[in-house]
Amino acid sequence: MQVEIREPRTPEEFRSYYWLRWKVLREPWTQDRESEKDHHENDAVHLMACLGDQVLGVGRLHFNSPDQAQIRFMAVEPEYVRRGVGSAVLKELEARARAMGARQIVLNARDPAVFFYQKHGYEILGQSETLFEAIPHTRMGKAL
Ligand SMILES: CC(C)(COP(=O)(O)OP(=O)(O)OC[C@H]1O[C@@H](n2cnc3c(N)ncnc32)[C@H](O)[C@@H]1OP(=O)(O)O)[C@@H](O)C(=O)NCCC(=O)NCCS
Repeated sequence: MQVEIREPRTPEEFRSYYWLRWKVLREPWTQDRESEKDHHENDAVHLMACLGDQVLGVGRLHFNSPDQAQIRFMAVEPEYVRRGVGSAVLKELEARARAMGARQIVLNARDPAVFFYQKHGYEILGQSETLFEAIPHTRMGKAL
């Protein structure tokens, strides 16, 4: 499926972007709106996969140090999973990280996403936090 990968720009686009993030990653655990944001929102790269006006996927990149970037909040509209949307977002986030000087990308993956990241060359680094006392995460990394 051919999606367009771009940054949200208008307030309406940011609303759609954050809404999908919340719907996929927060609502199933009865978390309030705004819980889908952290303190990196203003210094991060935000990307979304669009089909016309519809936002099908989102992902975000921030830097932990000049060398190390981190991906967070990857989410694809449930009806569109396993159709290449997440891969398209991830590849562009990696390209941005490389262009901005990162030499490594790290992330914390939920169990169902570990295979997805392994397919893209990420290695398991160890166990990470458990979110909402329910969602274990695996620390993963990839050298650029
Ligand atoms: C994880 C997620 C972002 C992946 O995006 P996606 O668009 O579904 O993934 P793609 O179609 O690009 O998958 C590429 C490949 O990754 C692997 N993969 C993706 N999801 C997988 C899964 N659930 N189980 C096993 N392999 C998976 C497959 O090899 C797949 O290729 P294939 O379908 O040709 O076999 C998406 O499924 C999602 O939003 N899941 C729910 C939220 C989530 O877990 N987010 C990650 C938080 S860390």
